[in-house]
Amino acid sequence: MNESRFRPFLRVVGLSHSYGAGAGEVHAVKDATFSMFPGDFVALVGPSGSGKTTLLAMLGALLKPTAGRIFLNGEDIGLLPGRKLAAYRRETIGFVFQANNLVPYLTARENLQMMGMRRGAVTKEARLRADRLLEELGVAHRASALATELSGGERQRVAIARALMNEPQLVLVDEPTASLDSERGRQVVEALNAEVKARRVLGLMVTHDRAMASTADRILEMRDGVVSDQTLASVLIGDEGQQAVATKVQPSMWRGGATARRRRQLRSLLPRRRR
Ligand SMILES: Nc1ncnc2c1ncn2[C@@H]1O[C@H](COP(=O)(O)OP(=O)(O)O)[C@@H](O)[C@H]1O
Ligand SMILES: [Mg+2]
Repeated sequence: MNESRFRPFLRVVGLSHSYGAGAGEVHAVKDATFSMFPGDFVALVGPSGSGKTTLLAMLGALLKPTAGRIFLNGEDIGLLPGRKLAAYRRETIGFVFQANNLVPYLTARENLQMMGMRRGAVTKEARLRADRLLEELGVAHRASALATELSGGERQRVAIARALMNEPQLVLVDEPTASLDSERGRQVVEALNAEVKARRVLGLMVTHDRAMASTADRILEMRDGVVSDQTLASVLIGDEGQQAVATKVQPSMWRGGATARRRRQLRSLLPRRRR
């Protein structure tokens, strides 16, 4: 863990996306507003069709918002020119998708190393980093196995390790545990949460599993395209106060779920609750 490393902060304001037009228009995401803080591991829950994947796609700059803005470290992602947007996707975002898309004819290690290729060659840094990540996610012993030879849980871990290869600031995960029984699924998610904490980056994970969601620091709920932020800071002081709180709250306060101690620490920083 590098303490001096820059700590990312995400702010999403009035973000919307509609598919199609006219009578067939679908308002998939409506006016989403929330923030994420360094080391934050957030679960995004909601029924099928509520807009979760659409929201993730916008945060990952795979889909252009119809309205609203995304600020990462104060930079408006929507204003980035195409070339910089590609770099944002490649260097700032780590994706783990439902069908975790490992290259089947490569080994676990090679799946990671290919993320670190520069001008057709795997760098020494990439080699070292790949092995360290496989170790951290508990799959070092499977490094030489082909992706097709891995179990579901191992494949998930390798996919997460691969998403972390380029040191992303924001890790986006879409239903990582869809194919897993809950015990193994929870282990995978806890490993990811630990990585997000250790690196003080941001993790946003879509899950339909309430038990899985409860391992996150907090939960964003989506219903019919509307995100309700259950962030303690938002609940207590409203949206406009979040920025102020984020600058005062130590990242360690965001660790380990909403403990009573953390709640007290937060309250002590906040103005009296408005009624
Ligand atoms: N490419 C698309 N074209 C048109 N409608 C879409 C498209 N993708 C998703 N939708 C619609 O947008 C809504 C939200 O979908 P999605 O973001 O995939 O939800 P979730 O991930 O929560 O299941 C749904 O009504 C879905 O049918
Ligand atoms: Mg989805």
